[in-house]
Amino acid sequence: MAAELHPVEAISRLGTETAFDVLARAEALAAQGRDIINLGIGQPDFKTPPHIVEAAIKALRDGHHGYTPSPGIPELRKAVVEDIAKYRGVDVDPGRVVVVPGGKVTMFFAILMFGEPGAEIMYPNPGFPIYESVINFTGAKAVPVPLLEENDFSFDAESVLAAITPDTRLLIVNSPANPTGGTVARAEFDKLVAGLEAHPQVAVMSDEIYSRMTYDEQEHVSLLGYKELEDRLILLDGWSKTYAMTGWRIGYGVWPESLVEAATRLAVNCHSCVNAPTQFAAIEALRGPQGSVDTMVAAFDERRGVIVDGLNDLPGVTCRTPGGAFYAFPNITGTGMDAHTLQNRLLEEAGVATIAGTSFGAYGEGYLRFSYANTVENIETALGRMRDLLTR
Ligand SMILES: Cc1ncc(COP(=O)(O)O)c(C=O)c1O
Repeated sequence: MAAELHPVEAISRLGTETAFDVLARAEALAAQGRDIINLGIGQPDFKTPPHIVEAAIKALRDGHHGYTPSPGIPELRKAVVEDIAKYRGVDVDPGRVVVVPGGKVTMFFAILMFGEPGAEIMYPNPGFPIYESVINFTGAKAVPVPLLEENDFSFDAESVLAAITPDTRLLIVNSPANPTGGTVARAEFDKLVAGLEAHPQVAVMSDEIYSRMTYDEQEHVSLLGYKELEDRLILLDGWSKTYAMTGWRIGYGVWPESLVEAATRLAVNCHSCVNAPTQFAAIEALRGPQGSVDTMVAAFDERRGVIVDGLNDLPGVTCRTPGGAFYAFPNITGTGMDAHTLQNRLLEEAGVATIAGTSFGAYGEGYLRFSYANTVENIETALGRMRDLLTR
């Protein structure tokens, strides 16, 4: 007899990350012999620097094959707080750091901790799709914070504060942002933090996974720098983007004192710990030479110029200059196509993989996300192919 399974209803509310679907489609087309330029996937096109790889190999050779403490090996948690002191100028107790398998896990845990029917969670839209997906999974109401082009894809603190209700439990912010490359200015964060004083029930999760990728000498403004938020801020950061380590699966959260135990329990219940050699590699990443990060960010900066200028030259396309991350988010309404149609036509007819803005939420209609983690040559070829398609 065929099985009749009854998974919980919440599973049907989980969304996905279209980037992985587009990647699979692009790879399938490439396997058929098509020449595909992938500007879809959000990961550095650089390899993890060799000294970091060597640290993992050494850890394996040295016999680090077992479980580690669930929130991370003590030396790594120390290295994380040293890094926070260096780049954010803030002193944090290593006991607040919980190392997890990727940046995503901190967001999953934070949303699980605050989401349930009746609760409201505010999240950036367009934004990283997993926020909305997991909020829906928990049964909480997903309340979008619109990130609009006319605000350079930042938010307006007054509107955010005005949307808070007594049921709001968690506010998610992400600067520099995926998919827009937008950054939030210090003045806007100042206003937000001051206004949150009146809403002590609201926790804040600041996704700063792109913290080291800002351009034009712009400082990265970390919400960890606001003492007023200390007892309600969850900081999300990690190694995936900064050290080109997306496939290693490691990230960290800095939790308020009152939530560290809950985060650690979720870790114990879920994955026990991050694999040991990766944790050793992560120590080397933070404490070792940072030249490779600078080289990678300089390369992204050059490509940012190429792609933004090139997109602005295309008929029907306009593109703001992103201040961070490695994404451009052009307005494509002038092409007469919606985001999904243009995404599909670019992939199928021009061999250029991009992601429709709607994959990042309803406010993404009219935009496409381009990851410029690709060579200048490929970006230029892709722009040429787009021009051919749009002038056909
Ligand atoms: C805004 C944002 N947060 C978190 C993540 C997840 O990072 P990780 O691969 O470390 O889980 C990503 C990855 O694309 C991201 O764009």
